[in-house]
Amino acid sequence: MNLYEAIFVRKSVRNYVFEPLSEDLLREIRTHYAELPNLFGDYETDISIYDNTRHTLHIRQFHTVKAPYYMLFYSRESARCQMNMGYLMQQMNLFLCCKGLGACFVGSTAVSASLQQKRDMRLIGILAFGKSKESPVRKKGEARRLPLEELCVFKEVPRAWMRQLLEAARFAPSSMNIQPWRFVVFDDRIHVFTKKHKADHLEKYRWEEVNFGIMFANIMITADELWLDVDLIRLENISQKSFPNNQYILSAIMKS
Ligand SMILES: Cc1cc2nc3c(=O)[nH]c(=O)nc-3n(C[C@H](O)[C@H](O)[C@H](O)COP(=O)(O)O)c2cc1C
Repeated sequence: MNLYEAIFVRKSVRNYVFEPLSEDLLREIRTHYAELPNLFGDYETDISIYDNTRHTLHIRQFHTVKAPYYMLFYSRESARCQMNMGYLMQQMNLFLCCKGLGACFVGSTAVSASLQQKRDMRLIGILAFGKSKESPVRKKGEARRLPLEELCVFKEVPRAWMRQLLEAARFAPSSMNIQPWRFVVFDDRIHVFTKKHKADHLEKYRWEEVNFGIMFANIMITADELWLDVDLIRLENISQKSFPNNQYILSAIMKS
């Protein structure tokens, strides 16, 4: 299974076997992280792998995912660093699935103060992982997701490769499965929007940037698989427009 195939069959794993992983595998995971591309530009990031096989990590969260390992993601504070982190986290999530391991995003970073910082970087997100009690994959199509027709406005009939990009975006995991993305699709471009939300729902949308980073990882992995050259750009002319129910995020533009 490659990363692209993993997009459609991975699932959140919440039941683990508390067994150690081999040093070779842990090294391979760290090396893979070091080679990952960022979403855009230069971001200074790093991970730490916390060995929780003796149940020593306490995450302050109701019903947290208990796993033998946690990957802690750190980033230097900068614009859109959380979106970039979601992008990196999803690439690791899929890599772990390809290695036959289970993984699940953790919706909290409330761990001890000593883990909140790494050099001058801040803890942004946590991925639980390890050997899964059950299969870490499901049948393609079993994920509970909104249909493409509900997520997209098509300006014309999309071509096959455009549908593949959108399908991969549709399968992205999100916090509480909120799937906040909406797409306006032209011939060779996808304009990405999020549904506007009320101030009293902000806690629900705390992971908004991370969610979008995850979804963009799915788009870019699919573009690689299809040998498409895609740029993620914020278009000034759309940024300046105001929409009643949606807020503009970015556009994915195919380069010819
Ligand atoms: C940013 C983020 C935070 C999440 N936090 C939690 C969590 O704290 N506990 C949990 O059980 N699942 C958590 N999830 C997993 C989602 O609930 C899950 O991805 C979503 O329901 C879709 O299901 P699937 O991953 O099995 O496709 C989180 C997912 C994301 C993207």
